[in-house]
Amino acid sequence: MFLSSSTDYREWRAAKLHSYPTGVDELIVNISGLADLDHRATAAIRSSCRRANMAIYSCHNTVVDRAAILAFAAHFGLHRIDRHLCANDDGVAELTVASEGARSDYVPYSDRSLSWHTDGYYNEESSRVRAVILHCVQDATTGGETAALDPEIVYIRLRDANPAFITALEHPECMTIPANVGNHGEIRPAICGPVFSYDASDGAVHMRYSARKKNIRWREDPTTTAAREFLSELLVDESGPVLRFCLQPGQGLISNNVLHNRTAFEDRPPQKRLLYRARFFDRIIS
Ligand SMILES: [Fe+2]
Repeated sequence: MFLSSSTDYREWRAAKLHSYPTGVDELIVNISGLADLDHRATAAIRSSCRRANMAIYSCHNTVVDRAAILAFAAHFGLHRIDRHLCANDDGVAELTVASEGARSDYVPYSDRSLSWHTDGYYNEESSRVRAVILHCVQDATTGGETAALDPEIVYIRLRDANPAFITALEHPECMTIPANVGNHGEIRPAICGPVFSYDASDGAVHMRYSARKKNIRWREDPTTTAAREFLSELLVDESGPVLRFCLQPGQGLISNNVLHNRTAFEDRPPQKRLLYRARFFDRIIS
């Protein structure tokens, strides 16, 4: 595979760094609407995903429903949706502040900030989240900004700094998420696995990560600790490769589950910030 051959890796690394966007503007693709995607827009979104594992689409027609999200996803080979705990029956979740019910127990359904993570870091390997669409229906009055970073860039930065960081983060017991236990018993068992793994079919880098301090158990090993510290510094580096943006109504992020976070936000009633989110077990065909 290209990551294990030093010549192939050097070529891949150089190409990746050469094509990685220098600013958010390079990620944005204007489209008429999710339901009427033309070849030009499809090609532009795929091109951005090849460069940065993500694209921001911006719809001229901002009227979008959940079915349109799924139809849009299918253009990019995203069919196997993750029907997780808080999603609707069609698998699409509505991220908005929930003041009661099961969703109110989870930070994504609050107005609080979300620390750096990849989606589904608590999923088993068999249900790895490879792609995510996050579509903004209504933005907040203030806040709700997103920062994002391509896991392949994280991989390169870590390997440049110390190849042993990669080995530590590939360890099958690197990161453990304790069981999720509710009032009526265990909702999800403890999940243990690596940060970096690679798809068997094409060697694509997959990253599983959460910066949460609580409810994460890291393998006690000096190299793992040093790798985590290096990554933490990379994520807060204002002059580093992190891309920051605030999705506007009609805009969305389609990505191969890149690292991301969210700042806290404030709604102005009766309008509530609302994002549709769909997670897939497929990677974007690019
Ligand atoms: Fe997320």
